[in-house]
Amino acid sequence: MIRFRPIGIVHSPFKTRDDIDPRRNRRPRGFADVRGEIEIDPAYAPGLKDIAGLSHLIIIFVFHKAGPGHLFARPPFERRRRGVFSTRSPRRPNPIGMTVVRLHGRRGNILKVSGIDMLEGTPVLDIKPYTSRDRKRGVQRGWMQRSVLNR
Ligand SMILES: C[S@@+](CC[C@H](N)C(=O)[O-])C[C@H]1O[C@@H](n2cnc3c(N)ncnc32)[C@H](O)[C@@H]1O
Repeated sequence: MIRFRPIGIVHSPFKTRDDIDPRRNRRPRGFADVRGEIEIDPAYAPGLKDIAGLSHLIIIFVFHKAGPGHLFARPPFERRRRGVFSTRSPRRPNPIGMTVVRLHGRRGNILKVSGIDMLEGTPVLDIKPYTSRDRKRGVQRGWMQRSVLNR
């Protein structure tokens, strides 16, 4: 048994899954402009020391409103089911997500960020710096090459 304790929660403009559903609300420019906050539990706030100089953060979180996990997923606008590990589907055996956000500032235990694609109240498990070392060369997108959502 592995047990994690959330270190904080996401505050997002997306209150329900319908708010964020790409079938209802196409976002040609993705989520880069979507502002939100990461509220860190005060018990963990000392761990935010030195975060101010970082431009981007990796947010690791729980898809807490996802249904049961599956091994196949049919991404939006796709006709074919794909193996879940070749997708970003929230419905996966361990409902863990990760999003790279831009850090705009910190006020106490609140991080002001953009790039939010999570729902309001999403539990945050961890935060790590995103660095230029995380950029990989020669990326191939496999089946996503032709997907309208992953350009
Ligand atoms: C395709 S996932 C990608 C999330 C993350 N960037 C990743 O790669 O793990 C984004 C979708 O997850 C869903 N989602 C976001 N937060 C969620 C939550 N807390 N519970 C369930 N579904 C969530 C929304 O429907 C959103 O459209």
